[in-house]
Amino acid sequence: MVFDQKLLGRVRDARQVVVFSGAGVSAESGIATFRDALSGLWSRFDPMRLATPEAFAADPELVWGWYEWRRMQVLSTQPNPGHLAIAALAKRVPKLTLVTQNVDDLHERAGSTGVLHLHGSLHQPRCSRCATPLRLPPEPPVEPAEGRRIAPPRCEHCGGEVRPGVVWFGESLPVDVLEAAFAAAAECDLLLSVGTSGVVYPAAQVPEIALGAGATVVHVNSEPQALGGQNEWLLAGAAGKVLPALLQAAFDE
Ligand code: OAD
Repeated sequence: MVFDQKLLGRVRDARQVVVFSGAGVSAESGIATFRDALSGLWSRFDPMRLATPEAFAADPELVWGWYEWRRMQVLSTQPNPGHLAIAALAKRVPKLTLVTQNVDDLHERAGSTGVLHLHGSLHQPRCSRCATPLRLPPEPPVEPAEGRRIAPPRCEHCGGEVRPGVVWFGESLPVDVLEAAFAAAAECDLLLSVGTSGVVYPAAQVPEIALGAGATVVHVNSEPQALGGQNEWLLAGAAGKVLPALLQAAFDE
């Protein structure tokens, strides 16, 4: 893979880096995207019956069962070279902030720390009433099969039903996480946007803020992307191939 020398220089010289990731970075690990996760036996369900606060209130067993099934899918997969390259990049630059739209924990398992999860996490459920976090056992007490209803655990603190720690349709993103992501984007000199369609707001503002503040923005995507400004670049290809090659070209050659 051959990279533009000017771009390699910008990667090498970057002092503050933001990586903004989406479902594409986990695709090579075999994680179903939201739409793919609605395949198989779950395909008969409307997302609005699974991923809204109203759905949980109406049928908590159905919704908890679906999220336990997705959590188990994630736990059976491994980080791929794209996740590992992002964790490795953090060691090569003075500061790196990782902002993800993904609800899996593959960045953490690849060694990234302080990950800003804009859309929450499958692995951090909390009480639907008092918001106390619940530590989930690695293995669900009930084997989650496709379509299986599972009663959500009860909060140890107030007895309320525990809910998945993800952002549902109609809910706001966690304010502190969003503010930290926007602040990092405004300060960075390089932003890598990896495996995201960049169409879901407010998350999609993160690369826009970086670009507006004069940073170099590099899109790593398996599909062609429209580029707006002279500070924007596209590296077309799978994240698990492009990112390791970019790091090697920038730092080892
Ligand atoms: P999308 O499914 O919208 O976009 C995934 C992007 O990854 C697409 O642009 C693909 O071309 C690209 N892609 C696929 N495989 C790739 C690979 N191996 N390497 C590089 N790129 C690849 O996913 P997101 O942008 O993450 O929201 O979606 C954003 C949000 O919309 C999600 O967080 C979710 C969803 O509805 C919530 O859950 C709130």
